[in-house]
Amino acid sequence: MSDGSLNLETSPEVLLAQLAGAFRGEVYGIAFFTHMLTHYQGYTDEAAQRPALELLLKVEQITAAIMAAHLPTLEVPCDLDDPLMRAQGIKDADVWLNLGWPELIDTLVDWVEPYQQQYRDQSERAGGFWPLFYLVDKHETAIFDYLQAEQQGEKNATAVLQRFIDAYPNSGLV
Ligand SMILES: [Fe+2]
Repeated sequence: MSDGSLNLETSPEVLLAQLAGAFRGEVYGIAFFTHMLTHYQGYTDEAAQRPALELLLKVEQITAAIMAAHLPTLEVPCDLDDPLMRAQGIKDADVWLNLGWPELIDTLVDWVEPYQQQYRDQSERAGGFWPLFYLVDKHETAIFDYLQAEQQGEKNATAVLQRFIDAYPNSGLV
């Protein structure tokens, strides 16, 4: 626009590119948490910490599965086996395998926060694609809320992850 007015509409092309990016983030997240779950060296209370990582992984898997079921109809490319994103997820997890649990949680809080904000902002401008943006926002918010609760030592920190999982019983994964 050349008249100086603000254009608050996001074009469909940009929205679809944002969804493609969010999907790649899920492939990354699945690789990250799968690798972390298997190779994490800092378990101090494995009976509690391993199930938390499993729930984080499941939130990513559910989000990816629902997106993978809908993105092709929008002609948005989505490859659950995207080798670049999988490799990146594993590479990044490798760096944090030796962190103690509190340090890992602190690191993940800082890591997830900008994405939570970004996906929240995108969902507010999602136009006709709001159901998928809502899903993306909701899953990242669940992860961020869990991490903050865990950071603060809340007893039932994982409840927010379980609530997200329970909300999508037909994803084919639960
Ligand atoms: Fe994710």
